[in-house]
Amino acid sequence: MRKAVSVSAPGKLMLFGEHAVVYGRPCIVTAVSQRMHVTAERISDDEFMLDAPDVKVQGYRKTYAELGAGEVPRAAAFVECALSNLRKEHSFGGVHIRTASEFTSQFGFGSSSASTVGMLKAVSELFDLGLSSHDIFDLAYRTVLDVQGKGSGFDVAAATFGGTLAFVAAGKRIDPIDASGMPLLVGYTGTKADTVSVMAGVSERAKRDPKKIESLYTAMGVIEGEAEAALRAKDWKQLGACMNRNQEELERLGVSGEMLDRMIHAARGAGAYGAKLSGAGVGDCMIALVPPEKSGAVRQALADAGGQPVDVFSSAPGVRVE
Ligand code: MEV
Repeated sequence: MRKAVSVSAPGKLMLFGEHAVVYGRPCIVTAVSQRMHVTAERISDDEFMLDAPDVKVQGYRKTYAELGAGEVPRAAAFVECALSNLRKEHSFGGVHIRTASEFTSQFGFGSSSASTVGMLKAVSELFDLGLSSHDIFDLAYRTVLDVQGKGSGFDVAAATFGGTLAFVAAGKRIDPIDASGMPLLVGYTGTKADTVSVMAGVSERAKRDPKKIESLYTAMGVIEGEAEAALRAKDWKQLGACMNRNQEELERLGVSGEMLDRMIHAARGAGAYGAKLSGAGVGDCMIALVPPEKSGAVRQALADAGGQPVDVFSSAPGVRVE
C-alpha cells in the first residue's frame, strides 16, 4: 500500500476559438511545458487537507462530512469540489494534497484546472480507484461547471490528455493534432483576467444583440476549421493569418484590451506571422507565431511594449505519475 503518490499536469494555452467554444463551436488548445505538481498522501482521519502555497492556501482542512460546506476559499474551491464529486462515486480514506506550480496563477495557464486534474489522478492512484483519463476529464469538467457555472472544459481536457487538441465543449470532440514544430511565442500582459466576469460581460452583450454575437461565434468556428487544416499542414504563415482573423472577431466581441492590442501589434510589426489574445481576454497572455529568425526581434518588441515574453513549449504530455 502506497503512502503517497506524486503526479504532474500541464498548464494550457488556447490557440483558437475562445468564448465561441462555450457556445458549441470547436477550439484548439495546447498543453504547455510548465506543470502543476500534486502530491496526495494518506492520512489517518476521514479528512481532506490542502497546502497550495502558490495560491496562499496553507493548512486548510475539512472533514469529509464538511466537504463543500461552510467557508471555501476561492483558491481551494476547485480541488475541494472535485474531491467531493469523487467521493460521491468512490469511497477512500483521508488525504493530504500538496500542490506546487512551475507557473504563476496570474498567467491564465489554468492552475485551477491543472491542480484539479492532478488531484484526481493522484487520489485515484493512491487508493487504486482505477479512474481512466475520460473519468478524470468528466469529473473535472463537472467540477468546472459546479464552481464556475459555465465553461467548455478545454482547460481540463488539456491537463488530462495533453498535446494539442481540437476540442468541442464537454468533450464532445477531443482530437489530438500533431503541432510539433509550431513556432509559438507567448507574452504576458502583466494583468490577470477574471474568466468568470469576462464571460459574464460577453453574456450581457449577447442578451443585447444576440444575432451579432452568434455571427461572431460562427465566424470563429469557421476560422478554427481553417486553422486546424493549416496546423495539420504545418503552414505557419496561413496559421498566423488565421490568428489575426480570430483576433479581429475577439475585438468585435469586446474581449481584447489595451495592453493585449499593444503587444499583438508589436509582435506583428516585428515580423510575426500572426498574433492574438489567448484565453478569456482583457489581460493574461497573448500568443504569436513567429519565424525563428524573427524570434529575438519579436521578444524585444513585446518587452518594449511593456509585456513579458514567457518561455513556453507547446503540446506537453497530459497528467502523469512522477
Ligand atoms: C477562457 O480561458 C476561455 C473561455 O473560452 C472559457 C472556456 O472555454 O471555458 C472564455
